[in-house]
Amino acid sequence: METELKSDTKSELKSELDFIDAIVKQYEGEEGMLIPMLQDIQAEYGYLQADHLRSLSRALKVPLARIYGVATFYASFRLSPKGQHDVTLCMGTVCYLKGSARISEVICGEYGVEPGGTTSDRLFTLNLVNCVGACALAPVMIVDGKYHDAMTPESALKILRGLSSEEREAAEPESAKTHEPAKPTEQAKPSEPPVKAVKAKRKTPALKMPAEEAVPQVGGEPQEKPAVKTPQKASKKKAGKK
Ligand code: FES
Repeated sequence: METELKSDTKSELKSELDFIDAIVKQYEGEEGMLIPMLQDIQAEYGYLQADHLRSLSRALKVPLARIYGVATFYASFRLSPKGQHDVTLCMGTVCYLKGSARISEVICGEYGVEPGGTTSDRLFTLNLVNCVGACALAPVMIVDGKYHDAMTPESALKILRGLSSEEREAAEPESAKTHEPAKPTEQAKPSEPPVKAVKAKRKTPALKMPAEEAVPQVGGEPQEKPAVKTPQKASKKKAGKK
């Protein structure tokens, strides 16, 4: 497995070197073509990797420091990979006066990123630029090409947090998104509660009524209760005597 990975990496490196060689050949004999070469490399890989710049330096026989000088002079070149979302914060005079410095501060603090850098989860790349030509909307923040006006530190963070949670939800597996409780399997079904059985057993001793125990028995036969003489019967007896 490890051998396979190593051979994959080797072939990847070889194809990258081939790509740099092909670019150098493409512009061979032309003067001042360093910038188009860097643009081609960046278009292919998303940013200018240190290895690629070293290879270019060797192939062109140009000092590496000079290549880095060009790559860092132009804001369009990137020396680190780009994040999933491009966040551009205007630091032009009007936006600055309306608080864009504070917005930049809170974004850098929240995501642990430097201006011009990319967050560790590769979600955001933060760029600070001068006037984006929308001073009436100051302070302006542009996220993936969409202009957001009158930004405050709170509203800027709200937009970025919204994107973060969207990405998190999208990354969650489908099973984690359904909140329905799992149906118990046949085996997992609870058996009859033991409480019922206990109650049924306890009914038997309850038959010994204390009242029955109190009734005296003659010859094993239950004694009849004496009839209650109602007042009506008593008056009839009196009438018969007469
Ligand atoms: S200063 Fe920010 S848009 Fe002009």
